[in-house]
Amino acid sequence: MSVIIAPSVLSADFANIQRDTEMINSSEADWFHVDIMDGMFVPNISFGFPVVKALKKHAQKPLDVHLMIVDPDRYLADFKAAGADILSVHIEACTHLHRTIHAIKDLGMKAGVAVNPHTSVELLRDVIADIDLVCMMSVNPGFGGQKFIENTYRKVSTLKDIIIQHNSQALIEIDGGVNQDNAGKLMAAGASVLVAGNFVFSSPNPVETISKLKQSQPHT
Ligand code: DX5
Ligand code: ZN
Repeated sequence: MSVIIAPSVLSADFANIQRDTEMINSSEADWFHVDIMDGMFVPNISFGFPVVKALKKHAQKPLDVHLMIVDPDRYLADFKAAGADILSVHIEACTHLHRTIHAIKDLGMKAGVAVNPHTSVELLRDVIADIDLVCMMSVNPGFGGQKFIENTYRKVSTLKDIIIQHNSQALIEIDGGVNQDNAGKLMAAGASVLVAGNFVFSSPNPVETISKLKQSQPHT
């Protein structure tokens, strides 16, 4: 099966958001990755509900919404209403993660859990069978265009083992610094979703860049 590609809208041109949405629609991308930052959990503020709703109006592919916000329970229903199909919360931002995961699923969305680079994937063991996606941060969240952290490969392999041991269906998504050079190695380690912001949007031909990423094959 080919890898799932989720271009990160954070790197789009917000003055031309409809154009960039149509670009993703017409490409081989599978999902829209939508980064929500609150200036508290991460040192940056991105955008909120009006932008998610505007994207939903034009997007012909699922919205994969990544919440980088404190106390995400406050807003789960609002993100469902805004159009989220997959909703990921940070493990570091949730006191009662199991409850949050089930609240997301009860609202009719796929549930994801995001983990920062310093967070051990062992912490996911007791919820891994309940979740649809692990969003593994391969940069410290907050900004697009950062350098990929090499330790990610090791974390992906460990997480893949945990997923298999618990008979979980969770997909491993890599978020941050993904490009054509690390895509195949990430897939070999067990990743099946690649988020790409800067690599796609700063390239001369984003549709072609998405296509090349989509054709990535696992290699070591
Ligand atoms: C970082 C975000 C990422 C970001 C990835 O906090 O969660 O989704 O947009 O962007 P690139 O691919 O530019 O590292
Ligand atoms: Zn993200």
